[in-house]
Amino acid sequence: VRITIQGTPGLTLLECARRAVSGEPAAHLSAPCGGRGRCGKCRVRVLGSDLGPDTKLGARKTGRGSGASAGASCLEPPGPEETAFLSSHDLSAGIRLSCRAAFRTAGTVTVELYEERISAFSAELAAFLHPADRTASGPAGPLGIAVDIGTTTVVAVLLDTGTGTPLGSVSEANRQRSWGADVISRIEAAGKDPEALCAMSGLITGQLRGMMKTLFAQAGAASDLLHRIWVCGNTTMLHLFTGCDPSGLGTLPFRPAFLGPRTLSAREFGFPVPDRCTIELLPGLSAFVGADTVAGILATGLHEAREPELLVDIGTNGEIVLATEGGIAATATAAGPAFEGAHVACGSPGVPGAVDHAGLDRDGFWFTTIDGAPASGICGSGLLDILAALRVSGTLEASGRLACADGPDGMPRFYLSEGRELFVTQRDIRQLQLAKGAVAAGIRLLCEKEGVPLEAIRRVHLAGGFGTYMNPVSAVAVGLLPTELAGKIRAAGNTALRGVVRAALSADAASRCAEFASRARVLSLASEPGFQDAFMESMLFPDDETVRSLVPAGRPGNIPQ
Ligand code: FES
Repeated sequence: VRITIQGTPGLTLLECARRAVSGEPAAHLSAPCGGRGRCGKCRVRVLGSDLGPDTKLGARKTGRGSGASAGASCLEPPGPEETAFLSSHDLSAGIRLSCRAAFRTAGTVTVELYEERISAFSAELAAFLHPADRTASGPAGPLGIAVDIGTTTVVAVLLDTGTGTPLGSVSEANRQRSWGADVISRIEAAGKDPEALCAMSGLITGQLRGMMKTLFAQAGAASDLLHRIWVCGNTTMLHLFTGCDPSGLGTLPFRPAFLGPRTLSAREFGFPVPDRCTIELLPGLSAFVGADTVAGILATGLHEAREPELLVDIGTNGEIVLATEGGIAATATAAGPAFEGAHVACGSPGVPGAVDHAGLDRDGFWFTTIDGAPASGICGSGLLDILAALRVSGTLEASGRLACADGPDGMPRFYLSEGRELFVTQRDIRQLQLAKGAVAAGIRLLCEKEGVPLEAIRRVHLAGGFGTYMNPVSAVAVGLLPTELAGKIRAAGNTALRGVVRAALSADAASRCAEFASRARVLSLASEPGFQDAFMESMLFPDDETVRSLVPAGRPGNIPQ
């Protein structure tokens, strides 16, 4: 994807892209750390630039794809903050960090974006929507729209609520991503500057307006048949959607302005719909267990479980729900962004070229990449498999020590291939230990508090993108999920979307959500005295014998050192 950014001297590519210029919509660059210059992941490739007519140099144009020189006339040269993240090879290819590359003079710069795999659930969505079931005669109405506002991806489905038939669907990257990849960055930005809150709120409502237009065009239906819009999302996303200050979610005691359920007028959001059309927000359970998790409970039927079941959704936060005959209990744990590729040397989101799976076989260590593209980074599922393979081979000790030769930073480093482009460092291992320790400790403590032994859990539903792509055997082998859960884990896909669709189609699903949400017990790990001990213990990897019993195909000793 290519975009052209109109620049103001002194502002960065990211800052200029965030602003709508002369009626043109703002561009939506990805800025995982919110533009603080810490993650090095807001890479764009500068293709060319066009100086503004007012510059004294005149309207000299640079050609497309001329590497480091492309855009040089408009942009300041890369400073130390950029060169800390970019190799000379990157720089000569015209790669810049959008949050650091500042305009030297007015003009426009055209950049190429590295698009994430936003249609991660497209296959699932297609199967789930059963297009063959569509009525030949068009919608009978009334129509409803189910929306899942994810921090990364926004998905909307148009439904004929009379027949229960899906009529269309659309999935896009959340446009708020230029304010940070995670909820904390967006909460901080909104708390510091009311204009940022306004901008983020406007971005998501504008995005939904566009998505609704696409849905009606897909279905050949008129928007005046629209009756209701059902929305789920985490607590921060629903605050930002409704223009509510989310600052209370960022500091102790983590108090939301609302948890819902709420009914709002769709017209007040500027949606081109009839006056009677309402927006129904599903309820959340706490600041960090939101309406997306409530929708997930509905989708997996956890609220009706007769035997203990777990729902686990691992992103920057890990949301964990335990269902028993006694009702729903839930907690959230700060897993951090390591499994999403941030703060990991060669970490990457799930883009083509990211290493997504790895393992050991008779020929030694192997890995695959998304779409079979040349390897460019390692995404969460790949990191998990690499850790498991390193544990099986004995290259990674149970303590987390990496038994490899030192890299240029003087710390042990495992190279994935002889070319040495991709590697995992000792520091990465520590980051991943923190992430997996937090999730495993959260699961153990929630079950302990509810008096449910892990052995008694009948099924574990792994929700979300990471849950869909990760290998459950690797997840247990590295201790992200406790060993007692081995063999009970199944990928559950986008449970939030399935749940909100169910809410839209069922007359009583919403009231059932409100009912079980109001009775749910929420465990706050921050104030739980046993959490620190459980966390420290869960940071260790399972012992050698356990790992080899879980991954029998692995053979020690065939990892390159
Ligand atoms: S370094 Fe630019 S967004 Fe993180």
